[in-house]
Amino acid sequence: MKSVLALIACPVVVLAASISRRIQPAPFEPFTAGAWRIPQNDDVFFVGTGINASGGKFYINRNTSTYCPDGVSGLDCSLYSGSSTTFVIGNGTTTMSLDVTVPGGQQVYLAPDGALSYTQAHSASMPPGSNVTGFSREQSQAGGAPTYLYSPAQYWFLCPVTEGEPRERTYQIFAASGNLEGCYGTQIRTYTPSLGHVWQYA
Ligand SMILES: *[C@@H]1O[C@H](CO)[C@@H](O)[C@H](O)[C@H]1NC(C)=O
Ligand SMILES: *[C@@H]1O[C@H](CO)[C@@H](O)[C@H](O)[C@H]1NC(C)=O
Ligand SMILES: *[C@@H]1O[C@H](CO)[C@@H](O)[C@H](O)[C@H]1NC(C)=O
Ligand SMILES: *[C@@H]1O[C@H](CO)[C@@H](O)[C@H](O)[C@H]1NC(C)=O
Repeated sequence: MKSVLALIACPVVVLAASISRRIQPAPFEPFTAGAWRIPQNDDVFFVGTGINASGGKFYINRNTSTYCPDGVSGLDCSLYSGSSTTFVIGNGTTTMSLDVTVPGGQQVYLAPDGALSYTQAHSASMPPGSNVTGFSREQSQAGGAPTYLYSPAQYWFLCPVTEGEPRERTYQIFAASGNLEGCYGTQIRTYTPSLGHVWQYA
């Protein structure tokens, strides 16, 4: 098992080094995020597969979970039919939240186990040791000028949470400063969101 992990570790470090060279801060605006992984020795490859919020965590190959309460006077849920998962990093800050309308917002954080997570609406509750700072988005000067999302823990990982074909099963998003056993290192790229607002993610 050790040698397998060593093989996984290598490309991650090389990628991180090669993308950190020529970058500039990305403009302040909401964004969606996608997993980008061109593997050298396995079939787990993704070119911008959308990262979705569900149940307080983030995944690829799982539907976004949104919610708008019925029967609240003055709240027209037909205005909140968006289905993409949209993030925003505060202007001039390194804190990230979900682009929602619900009062109080929904904060994104790294849980102590490295899981990229978000708070439930009307609650600031998160596990002790969670990290809310250190997120940034930088535009590369390389071909296509992709804009990368960086985490406080340095490296992003896709951790499989279902069985199935390598490109079809569901993966949860984690960040760590070293290897995560059974997971695959990945880049995360960011994109301009499609139209449509969300009241809250559930
Ligand atoms: C993300 O969620 C949206 C809305 O449920 C869905 O249309 C899309 O297919 C999901 N993306 C992935 C990669 O599963
Ligand atoms: C995901 O959403 C699509 C429509 O956007 C729907 O057809 C599909 O059944 C949903 N998948 C799950 C697992 O709920
Ligand atoms: C972001 O902050 C800078 C500096 O305070 C300000 O000049 C700029 O207008 C802000 N951008 C937006 C979109 O609010
Ligand atoms: C949170 O992230 C910041 C920025 O990367 C880092 O300096 C700090 O050590 C982290 N805190 C914890 C508790 O991991």
